[in-house]
Amino acid sequence: MKLKACVVGLGLLGSEYVTLLTKRPDVEVTGVADIRQARAHEVGDPIGAAVYSDYERMFHEQQPDLAVVATPDPLHAEPVLAAVAAGAPAVIQEKPMATSVEDAERMLLAAEGAGTTVFVNYANRGSALDRATYYVIQQGLLGPVVYGQARLDDHIVVPTRLWGDRTRDWVAGSSTAHFLLSHVVDFLRWVLAPAEVCEVYAISQRQVLGYTPDLYDAYLTFDSGARFRVKAEWIKHIDGLVEFALDFSGAEGYLRYIKIPGFGEIEGWRANLSAALSPADLLSHRDTLLARGIPVRALVHTPQPLPDTDTPPAACVALEALGVPSDGWRVVQSCVDAVLEETLTPASWAHYGPLPTGIDGLRQTEVVAAIVTSAAEDRVVTLGRS
Ligand SMILES: NC(=O)c1ccc[n+]([C@@H]2O[C@H](COP(=O)([O-])OP(=O)(O)OC[C@H]3O[C@@H](n4cnc5c(N)ncnc54)[C@H](O)[C@@H]3O)[C@@H](O)[C@H]2O)c1
Repeated sequence: MKLKACVVGLGLLGSEYVTLLTKRPDVEVTGVADIRQARAHEVGDPIGAAVYSDYERMFHEQQPDLAVVATPDPLHAEPVLAAVAAGAPAVIQEKPMATSVEDAERMLLAAEGAGTTVFVNYANRGSALDRATYYVIQQGLLGPVVYGQARLDDHIVVPTRLWGDRTRDWVAGSSTAHFLLSHVVDFLRWVLAPAEVCEVYAISQRQVLGYTPDLYDAYLTFDSGARFRVKAEWIKHIDGLVEFALDFSGAEGYLRYIKIPGFGEIEGWRANLSAALSPADLLSHRDTLLARGIPVRALVHTPQPLPDTDTPPAACVALEALGVPSDGWRVVQSCVDAVLEETLTPASWAHYGPLPTGIDGLRQTEVVAAIVTSAAEDRVVTLGRS
């Protein structure tokens, strides 16, 4: 069977979706839509897709099996709702789910009512070491995770130049909370599942950009008791476009994940595991990850001795990986597989829980909205479950 796919929003991400879908032998991109007609033709004509400026018309005429929505952050809801109204059985939409809780709720309600599955592309679940992090935490190899931090920063060219003449308006409709912390919030919800964020305190600043906050810096408390500091800036004069690093303190272990390194860092992933783990268990976990295509190595090492003591420290067991290529499109590929296989856990996503859908999107949107409210009103925001 060949899936009929239609793509709305043909900018940086939407055009990459078209390339990715066109390469799959089991998908045909039959329609593309963008309000910028020249852009729509540039993307649609070479692949023989019907080109539209009106996505509603496209969905009604094309009746796709899969709708992809890659419009700017605050503009996800209407195209997703239009795809649902036209009877599309599946949608893959870009993160964040929405920039308001009201939009996310409308989308989820409509999708549930129509029986449409809405996948949200939280791309940071997809790389090998993202999945290794999920494995180590979900297997309890750090003991209960109690604290951690994540920083995801963009170079200042992102909010000042990335979208050309459109940049200022684009960025004014979003923020580092929506654009960047949506990734972090989703990643933490995923690896710490079933824990949910129950309390948020955040600050933001507006000293440089003016048309959007320069940064958000937040403390998230999970109902498991874990606390995380999560921070995202848009004013950094760094060497690369993005820097991304996370760490997790468990009661019995520690995990550091430098996903996109900055100056003085190297890309890498190290999990110092619970001392309760035997070397045989360590090798068995390593073998499980290797069998899933995640190239980690096992270490038994002796940490720095304490000063002024003759007692040698106990050996530590660890898993480690350096220089593993990232795969930002794996989640999307697995979502397409899920549509074809009519499941939320296709063979390509067998070990990592269900793929991210609308309910994850709503939870992510609630947490990001709480971050924005907390910073604006300088107060702790408590999250109840809807
Ligand atoms: N998953 C990731 O890691 C990742 C990375 C970057 C961006 N994104 C997300 O992808 C989305 C798109 O980002 P982008 O950088 O491609 O933006 P973009 O501005 O380059 O592309 C968006 C496109 O949508 C079109 N558009 C706007 N309104 C429309 C409408 N009503 N009908 C049809 N087309 C319309 C615009 O003309 C534009 O071509 C954003 O939500 C962004 O946060 C995700």
